Amino acid sequence: MEKSEIIKNINTLRKEKNAIILSHFYQDGDIQDIADFIGDSLALAQWAAKTTADIIVLCGVHFMGETAKIICPEKRVFIPDIKAGCSLADSCAVEEFQQFIDEHPDYTVVSYINTSAAIKALSDIIVTSANAAKIIASLPEDEKIIFVPDKNLGDYVNKQTGKNMLLWNGACHVHQQFSIERILELKQQYPDALLLTHPECPANLREISDHVGSTSSMLKFSKNSDKKQFIVATEAGILHQMKKENPDKKFIPAPPKDSANTCNECVFMRMNTLEKLYLCLKNETPEIFIDEETRLKAVRPIKKMLEISSKYGL
Ligand code: 13P
Ligand code: SF4
Repeated sequence: MEKSEIIKNINTLRKEKNAIILSHFYQDGDIQDIADFIGDSLALAQWAAKTTADIIVLCGVHFMGETAKIICPEKRVFIPDIKAGCSLADSCAVEEFQQFIDEHPDYTVVSYINTSAAIKALSDIIVTSANAAKIIASLPEDEKIIFVPDKNLGDYVNKQTGKNMLLWNGACHVHQQFSIERILELKQQYPDALLLTHPECPANLREISDHVGSTSSMLKFSKNSDKKQFIVATEAGILHQMKKENPDKKFIPAPPKDSANTCNECVFMRMNTLEKLYLCLKNETPEIFIDEETRLKAVRPIKKMLEISSKYGL
């Protein structure tokens, strides 16, 4: 089917079915362009919480679909490709996590949103890269904290807040793979360019950056800056919005260690395509299901995150 036909069909179906299409910034440009809303993990959860649609099609990875379903059990939630997982979320298996918690009974469990519903159900509070430092800084000074699963984001938050959280040893395959050497070469080639980095990247990359923040924060920073060139160290899908919002500025994807590639893409995010989005709306599958016992446990730490975020105007 021609792309224009797919777009026409998606538009008809979403109206007929009262469906909303939510997209993360790491999706293909075509998906971002057709979405009702594009955002980071926090904004996607906030949208799920306020939409009046009957159906949510979450164009992102599995944990994002699960989060929407946990928040809105009365809605049907679909993702275009059910195999779109997350290597970071997968680095935290329930049995090992339960053991870790049992070994630290007096610790508060703070989990990154990039976790499965089962891990969220064992957590006290959920955070995203957009609110982690603020939420964790707001916890009492003497509170002992476990942070899972991203060791880089955990280290970043420890440094930002002066906390000493115990960190799970997980990392994202995309953000772990940037090449400092190739980025330094780019900085020489573009001496005026600012380096924007996601906090899931290792400390040695964050330390040479001009701005560290979530996808939405990188987007906002590039828009507000009077600089014209930016090297972007996160999944390359974000460049689509950056270029759209700033046609007069140059955005250069930070290169990975693998010298065959010029940018870093998340294989899971890229499993979703415009055609799969259309088929998902048409056939109402693949759907996200969560057992009610897990959902009831997982919704509490997510609601806590949404409440604190709105208190801080995030
Ligand atoms: P953001 O919440 O910053 O969009 O990050 C999501 C993600 O998966 C980063 O890898
Ligand atoms: Fe997970 Fe990394 Fe992909 Fe984000 S970029 S969805 S953290 S694997």
